[in-house]
Amino acid sequence: MGKDVKALLEQMTLDEKIAQLLQLATFFYKGAAGEGEITGPMADMGIDEDVVTNTGSVLGASGAKEVQNIQKEHLAENRLGIPLLIMADIVHGFKTIFPVPLAIGCSWNMELAEKSAEIAAKEAAVSGIHVTFAPMVDLVRDPRWGRVMESTGEDPYLNSEFARAFVRGFQGEDLTNDLNRVAACVKHFAAYGAAEGGRDYNTVNMSERQLRESYLPAYKAALDEGCEMVMTAFNTVDGIPATGNKKLMKDLLRDEWGFDGVIISDWGAVKEQIFHGVAADEKECAQKSIEAGVDIEMMTSCYPKHLKELVESGEVNEETINESVLRILTLKEKLGLFENPYRGASEELEAEVILSEEHRKVSRELATKSCVLLKNENVLPLQKEQKIALIGPFASSGDIMGAWSWHGRQEDAVQLQAAFKTKMDASNLTFAKGSDIETITEEQIQEAVSAAEGADVIVLAVGERADMSGEAKCRADIRLPQAQLELIARMKELQKPIVTVLFNGRPLDLHGVIDRVDALLEAWYPGTEGGAAVADLLFGDANPSGKLTMSFPYSVGQVPVYYNHFNTGRPNRPDAPDHYVSKYLDIPNEPLLPFGYGLSYTSFTYSEMNLSSKTLTPSEEITASIQVTNSGEMAGEEIVQFYVRDIAGEIVRPLKELKGYKKVWLEPGETKEVSFTITEEALRYFHSNLEFTSDNGEFHAMIGPNSTELTLLSFRLEK
Ligand code: BGC
Repeated sequence: MGKDVKALLEQMTLDEKIAQLLQLATFFYKGAAGEGEITGPMADMGIDEDVVTNTGSVLGASGAKEVQNIQKEHLAENRLGIPLLIMADIVHGFKTIFPVPLAIGCSWNMELAEKSAEIAAKEAAVSGIHVTFAPMVDLVRDPRWGRVMESTGEDPYLNSEFARAFVRGFQGEDLTNDLNRVAACVKHFAAYGAAEGGRDYNTVNMSERQLRESYLPAYKAALDEGCEMVMTAFNTVDGIPATGNKKLMKDLLRDEWGFDGVIISDWGAVKEQIFHGVAADEKECAQKSIEAGVDIEMMTSCYPKHLKELVESGEVNEETINESVLRILTLKEKLGLFENPYRGASEELEAEVILSEEHRKVSRELATKSCVLLKNENVLPLQKEQKIALIGPFASSGDIMGAWSWHGRQEDAVQLQAAFKTKMDASNLTFAKGSDIETITEEQIQEAVSAAEGADVIVLAVGERADMSGEAKCRADIRLPQAQLELIARMKELQKPIVTVLFNGRPLDLHGVIDRVDALLEAWYPGTEGGAAVADLLFGDANPSGKLTMSFPYSVGQVPVYYNHFNTGRPNRPDAPDHYVSKYLDIPNEPLLPFGYGLSYTSFTYSEMNLSSKTLTPSEEITASIQVTNSGEMAGEEIVQFYVRDIAGEIVRPLKELKGYKKVWLEPGETKEVSFTITEEALRYFHSNLEFTSDNGEFHAMIGPNSTELTLLSFRLEK
C-alpha cells in the first residue's frame, strides 16, 4: 500500500505546504558534505530555519553517504516525516561521462543514447539522486550560444527521437520498483535555444506557429514518453518570461497536453521576472509563477516569503497551492520515498557500479559513434608502424568531458597520448604541447617543430577548453582561439601530412583549420573514454560513422544557418546569377558543412530512388526505396537520410524536412535496400489557424547521405 498523499496534504499547515514548494542547494542542509553543485547566482534568501526544515527538495546533493545524512537529519526534524526529493544535473553521465549531447546527436544512435542515460541513472541512483535535470531538448540554430553542446541539434524530428530515448533510459519502465532509475525533468520549457544573438538568457521571439512546428515537438516527445517533470526556461516567450507564462504552462502544458507532473523553475528564474520587467517585486513574482503553474521555485524565496499573504488576502487561491503540493507528494510516492527515503543510495553499490568496466565500454562505443570525420585526403586511418608526432593542447589533456560533468574526474579520462601508446610502438611516437588553449610561445612552437621533425605524419589535437561552452559561455567569434590557429599555420609550414582532431562544444568557424589540414575529425567532448575512442578511429580499429546534427557555418556572419530553412521569394541560383537575390556579397549562403554530413573510411554509393506509387492517399501509404552499396574497402555503417518537401503549402514549407533515417552496416562490396514509408500523417504541419493537417498537391521525396547530396522524386498527396 502506498502512502495516502491526499490525507497527508490535509494534515499540512499552509506554511508547511508553501515550504514544500521551495528548492534549495545543498549547503542549507545539515548533513551536507560541502556546497554541492552551484550553477547560478546566490542571492540572500532571507528565510528562516523553519522553512528549510519543511522544504520539499534539494538541488545538487550526491554521494550515498551525504544524501543519507541530509535525509536523516531532515526526517528527524520534519513534523510529518515528508522526505526530501534529491535532484541534480546528470546530463551526459554521472562519473562515467559520455560524449556531450551534441556529440550523441551525431551518432543518430537511439539505442546507445538510451543506454547512456540508463547508466547515468544507475550511477546517480546509487549515489542517492532521485531526479535528474535532463534531458535538455532545446532546438539550436546558433553556435554562438554556449549551450548548444547540451542539445542534440537543429532538427525537430531527431531531437524528439533523442528526447524519447533519454527519458526511457533515465526512467525505465517501472520507476517505483526499479531503484536503478531516476525521474527525468525535460528542459528548458520553452524555446531557450532560440536566444537572440546566441547570447545566453536573451529574448526569444517567434510566432506561435513556429514555436509549435520547430521548438515544441521535442518537449512533447519527452512527455509522451512519460517524463515526470518539466523545467521552465530563463527567457521570455512572446514578451512574457517563460517562468510566469500562463499561456505556455497552464494553457498548453497542463490543459492542452494534459501534463500533470511537477513543473520547476530554473535557478532563480521566479525572481528574475523583476529584472525582465514584468513584476514590481517578489510578491508579484510569486503570484505570476504559481498562477502560471510553476510548482517548485528553485533558489529564490518569493514563494516562502509571499505566498502566505497572497492566500490570506485572497489573491491566490489555496487550492492552487494544494494542487502543486499534491503533485510533488505524488512524485515522492511514485519514487517510493515514503517507504524508503534513501531509495537506491548505497555506498557498497557505489563502489561496485560506478565507472565499471561495462559502463566505460558503453561510453567508448558511444564516443566512437559520435565523432564525425569532416575531411580525409588519404591520410586516415593512420598506420601503426608510421612515425607520428602528437601535438597540441589536447594531446595530453583530461579536459575532454564537457561542461555538464561536474562529477566526472579528469584523472579518470583516457587521454589521447595514453591511448596512442596502446596502438603503436612508443618509440615511433613523439609528443609536444605546441601551445596552450589561448596562448602560444616561440619556445612551444620550436618544441613542436622538433617533435615533428622525424615524423611521417602530424596529429594535432586542438579545441576549446570545456568551460568555453555550456551555460553563460557564449562566444561571438567561433573560430579556434588564435594561438591554436597559429600552431596549425606553423605546423603546415613543415609540409607534412596533418591530421587534426577537434575537441569542442559547438560548431566552429573552421577557417584556418580545414583549409590547412589533410584530415579533420570532430571529436566534440567525447567523455571518459574519449582518448581511446578517438585512437580507435584514427588507427582504423573503428570506422567513423557520425553525421552532423548541427550545421557548421561558413562564417559567423551567416548565423543562424540551418538546413530546414525557407526558400525566400528570391532564392540564390548559382546557375542564373542575378544581383537582386537573397545572398551575401562576400560569402556563400550555404554552411561550410551541412546537417547530416560525415565521412567514412569506406565509400557508399546510392542507386536511383524508387517510389512504390506516385500518389499518396490517407489510406494508402507509399514506400521510397534505394540501394546502398559499400563501394570501398572497409566495412562500415552508413546513416541513410530521408527528407521531404511540400512544394506548395498553405504556409511556406522548409526546403527539406528530415522524416526518417536508417543505419545500415555494409561489408565491402555489399548492397542493401533501404526503404522509408511515407504516410499522410508524416506530411502534416501547423497551418495558419494552428490546425495540424496536410496539403494536397506535389511533394518531393529525397534520399541521400546528408542534407545536400540527395536523389529526388515527386509524388502527389490526394485526400
Ligand atoms: C541551468 C539548468 C540547471 C539548473 C540547476 C541552471 O542554471 O540553466 O539547466 O538544471 O541550473 O543546476
